[in-house]
Amino acid sequence: MDGNGRWAKNRGLPRIKGHEQGADAVRECVEGCGDLKIEFLTLYAFSAENWGRPKTEVLALMHLLERFLKEKTPELLEKNVRLQAIGRLTDLPDACQRQLHKSIERTAGNNGLTLILALSYGSRLEIIDGIKSLLRQIEEGHIDSAMIDVEMFSKHLYTRYYPDPDLLIRTSGELRLSNFLLWQLSYTEMYVTTKLWPDFTKDDLFAAVEEFGKRQRRYGGVL
Ligand code: IPE
Ligand code: MG
Repeated sequence: MDGNGRWAKNRGLPRIKGHEQGADAVRECVEGCGDLKIEFLTLYAFSAENWGRPKTEVLALMHLLERFLKEKTPELLEKNVRLQAIGRLTDLPDACQRQLHKSIERTAGNNGLTLILALSYGSRLEIIDGIKSLLRQIEEGHIDSAMIDVEMFSKHLYTRYYPDPDLLIRTSGELRLSNFLLWQLSYTEMYVTTKLWPDFTKDDLFAAVEEFGKRQRRYGGVL
């Protein structure tokens, strides 16, 4: 969800206005996924590296997150969306954590779209956490190192309950992964749009999915 800052700058507004507009764009995307019967949507809302931004911006983003969760949970319930989160969630301010867990619990029974927020998320951290978790299992004698394979390692990542993404959409024209789901994106189709995240609409989502439909996925094999 990149480009909030540029969206605001283009209008001579403070960066936080871009983030607020970005939060509104989430609704379009969630609705679009519902229309398309997409099962999982992961939004890279706040990276582990984003903590390094100026304190005022970080604070404003945390307040926005808390408010977003509080205000949008009824809408998530109405739309049958199940909320989940990945990342080092304990890094979030207490009030955010409480609201997040409340929203997750309230939507736990929904069986439509699973909306996964990546918060204080970093893929390298996730992989390191996964390795530590595997090592613990070895130390406790539950598994033998020779048993480790791709499938088992995947079960030690934050994303263990979700399938690997089919499609990655990057907004604002940047051509990098920025430490997002490095392991899980191995065979994901990538789609880059120059649209800034706050301008990203349902139609943009549909265009991305249509383009995805034309791709030939070979997973390293031949057709
Ligand atoms: C992405 O927008 C939102 C967050 C990281 C929270 P940016 O804030 O990175 O927007 P630009 O890159 O400055 O335009
Ligand atoms: Mg950015």
